[in-house]
Amino acid sequence: MTSTTIDAGVLGTGFYVPERILTNFDLEKMVDTSDEWIVERTGIHERHISAKDVPASELAYQAAVRALADAHTKPEEVDLIICATLTGDAVCPSTASFIQDKLGAVNAAAFDLAAACSGFVYSSTVAAQFIKTGTYRRVLVIGVEVLSKFLDWEDRNTCVLFGDGAGAAVYGPVEKGFGILGFDLGSDGSGTGALGIASGDRGRALVEGQKQNCVYMNGAEVFKFAVRAMGATMKRSLERAGMEPKDVDWLVPHQANIRIIQSAAKRLALPLEKVIINIGKYGNVPAASIPMALAEAAGEGRFRKGDIVVLAGFGAGLTWASCIMRWAKEDL
Ligand code: ACO
Repeated sequence: MTSTTIDAGVLGTGFYVPERILTNFDLEKMVDTSDEWIVERTGIHERHISAKDVPASELAYQAAVRALADAHTKPEEVDLIICATLTGDAVCPSTASFIQDKLGAVNAAAFDLAAACSGFVYSSTVAAQFIKTGTYRRVLVIGVEVLSKFLDWEDRNTCVLFGDGAGAAVYGPVEKGFGILGFDLGSDGSGTGALGIASGDRGRALVEGQKQNCVYMNGAEVFKFAVRAMGATMKRSLERAGMEPKDVDWLVPHQANIRIIQSAAKRLALPLEKVIINIGKYGNVPAASIPMALAEAAGEGRFRKGDIVVLAGFGAGLTWASCIMRWAKEDL
């Protein structure tokens, strides 16, 4: 992707999780499960859960404040807010509008983007298009979920997997040759029945016997899809960036299952030390998983300027998305 356009990259990141922690041992008292099963099958030890009266926009706001501070950006300098979520504050208006109001980002346009767990990478590529054309200079991208409010807490197949939280990144112009160098987005709409939330005219009808407004999932089918999709999308993104797996310094994958992450790393022949993994502490936080992992790793100073960082995810739709970026920010 060489052109005369402006290169777009991450200027700052931040994340936030609610205080309350729900451990596997807590879950043992709620459903027929065990810490051993959950850890072995998923890699998850605990997850954070939002209070009943705390909506997605509140977690998103907290992450956004941190990302804006990290990017030395004032709320009124933000041109656009994109919020990736599947558990927003309302069907309408958008969660991005609630966030805009609380931030005082009075000059920003705002919309939500629905691509489930792929949402943050989808949103990042959208942000990059606006920056590349010179239309906008500061785009705030947030992934946020309060999935705990959309789970059937009697269904052990799903309730042990997810957590709540938010991650945010500020995108803006960066030095030539830095930022997003290649990406791949995709969807296979024949997989809508494999994973989703039973709401809306189609969603309610998709899975028989599913509690309304709760997550439905065919775990085995999603697992097989995820392993294939992660490998294929990263390969396409690398090709578009003119790179090979050996060029990758860091992989920031969607945190759905440690076994899916391990298989993605294997496909790039990347040692696990180069993979950002925080699923043990947070569980799967759909659209927020990747930005939370990105922000946590960046905050720990793990990325050096010039590092090649790959973001890759998959989710309901079924969707997938990946992007390759040359880290533009000088950390620590
Ligand atoms: N505790 C104990 N046993 C359980 C639990 C649990 N919490 N959940 C399921 N089981 C049982 C099932 O009932 C089943 O029992 P059975 O064989 O007697 O019927 C058995 O465990 C299933 O075992 P496996 O099929 O071997 O489980 P698997 O190794 O496939 O792990 C899992 C299941 C964790 C769900 C896995 O398939 C997975 O991670 N799938 C992908 C999930 C995913 O990525 N979702 C993305 C969501 S992102 C988004 O867009 C919302």
